[in-house]
Amino acid sequence: MARKISFINYKGGVGKTSLIVNTAAGLARLGKKVLLFDLDTQSNASIWLLRLERWNKINATNEGAILSIFDPGTAKIRDIVFRDVVEDKTGAKVLPGLDLVPTNFNLVDLENEYAGDPKVPHYLVFQRQLAEIEDQYDYILFDCPPNILRASQCGVFSCNEIIVPANPDALSLIGFTLLVDKLGRFHQVSASFRQAAMGPAAQVRGIVFNSIKTGVDIEVPKMRMQLRMNQFRAAKRVAADAKIFQTQIRDAMVVRRAVTLGLPVALLAQESDDGSQESVITDYRRLADEIIRMGPIGS
Ligand SMILES: Nc1ncnc2c1ncn2[C@@H]1O[C@H](COP(=O)(O)OP(=O)(O)OP(=O)(O)O)[C@@H](O)[C@H]1O
Ligand SMILES: [Mg+2]
Repeated sequence: MARKISFINYKGGVGKTSLIVNTAAGLARLGKKVLLFDLDTQSNASIWLLRLERWNKINATNEGAILSIFDPGTAKIRDIVFRDVVEDKTGAKVLPGLDLVPTNFNLVDLENEYAGDPKVPHYLVFQRQLAEIEDQYDYILFDCPPNILRASQCGVFSCNEIIVPANPDALSLIGFTLLVDKLGRFHQVSASFRQAAMGPAAQVRGIVFNSIKTGVDIEVPKMRMQLRMNQFRAAKRVAADAKIFQTQIRDAMVVRRAVTLGLPVALLAQESDDGSQESVITDYRRLADEIIRMGPIGS
């Protein structure tokens, strides 16, 4: 059964997209079959992995973008999966096993204009379509914007686990606290639509610290985050084994450069000559490994 994980924090710009794209690549490189959903109308993950030429076509027409699955009679999720999405400049597939369901800028219409059927909310439409293809994957990952509005709700309703990317600062702590609060409320609102087969509602599994600069001491913000996590665990508002991941991702220029080049960091290795890339690649591989080793909730 696929493990379904949302990457979300109420704080923007903490590195959710960078973390999910590079972790997805790390999992695929370890031989796992991975499906990544871009649920953020900013389309960062889609533009990164498709590069502009392929993404522009989707943005111009809506065809192949996630918004289209909410229109009855049009595409289903299974029709809009980009198989083995990562290509080099010649169009050769360079990362088999990583598939993408992309978005375009119009996903914002899901928040504003979508009427839908109140008896079948948007997240149930999404979850039912996802269920048709779930068994093709080991991992299904959802890149969410920093809120739990409708697009995020699709990921949060359909997943079982939540990973919270964070920076070692006070705003990330506030973002985490707000997230747990909003999650609880959404689970209450959506509870009547959950089927037993879906398993329990998603719980926070852990926090990953991202963009850690060399020589910067993060012990105090880390301790504060750990205290908050302990409180949430005691109150059963996060998973019983929720933790701060041992792996933390260092700050590295190459992470920013990878976006421009349209590749996950790990695939830039050959182009490296400054040595720093190796190390952040190791961080992402370790994180992929740590996620695999921790197993699903309750394992
Ligand atoms: N480990 C890292 N080292 C250096 N730069 C990083 C790292 N992780 C992320 N960044 C950079 O930080 C910026 C924000 O990252 P990213 O877009 O992944 O955050 P996000 O949480 O997805 O943002 P949003 O809330 O807008 O979706 C980007 O410019 C990205 O390249
Ligand atoms: Mg993002």
